[in-house]
Amino acid sequence: MTDTSLYERLGGETRIRELATTIFDKHTQNATIRNRYTNTDRDDVIRLVTEFICNGTGGPQAYSGRDMLTTHRGMNISEEEFVAVVDDIVEALDEHGVGQREKEELLMISWSLKPEIVRV
Ligand code: HEM
Repeated sequence: MTDTSLYERLGGETRIRELATTIFDKHTQNATIRNRYTNTDRDDVIRLVTEFICNGTGGPQAYSGRDMLTTHRGMNISEEEFVAVVDDIVEALDEHGVGQREKEELLMISWSLKPEIVRV
């Protein structure tokens, strides 16, 4: 079996940055969560989420941001907000024509992070 990383199958850093940009912009339009992003630096968050996905899917990039627990601790994020974020991710993956297998892998990674994000 050939073992191509998820990073490569997603199309590498350029495609991943495009995905991260779409996801961020959907968050700022999503009534459930948009208030969370009013005081964030768009370029900064897109850069860090790009690094996070690249690093977490097998890319050579280092991740220079904070870990998920430290980042989201004290925000009191609800289940509903978490689902809203995952919904935006699904929409972005569909709009970017990401394959079924890659979608499933990214969604599994997203869900697995829930204990480090919701009500921490
Ligand atoms: C799978 C789910 C999620 C992932 C992978 C994720 C990932 C990240 C990353 C990598 C950062 C940047 C880290 C840093 O600032 O050092 C970040 C920041 C942030 N996240 Fe999340 N996040 C997720 C879910 C959520 C949810 C559900 C919310 C609430 C609606 C949220 C709200 C925020 C906010 C407001 C920031 C900016 C923090 C700041 O500007 O200081 N995130 N997230």
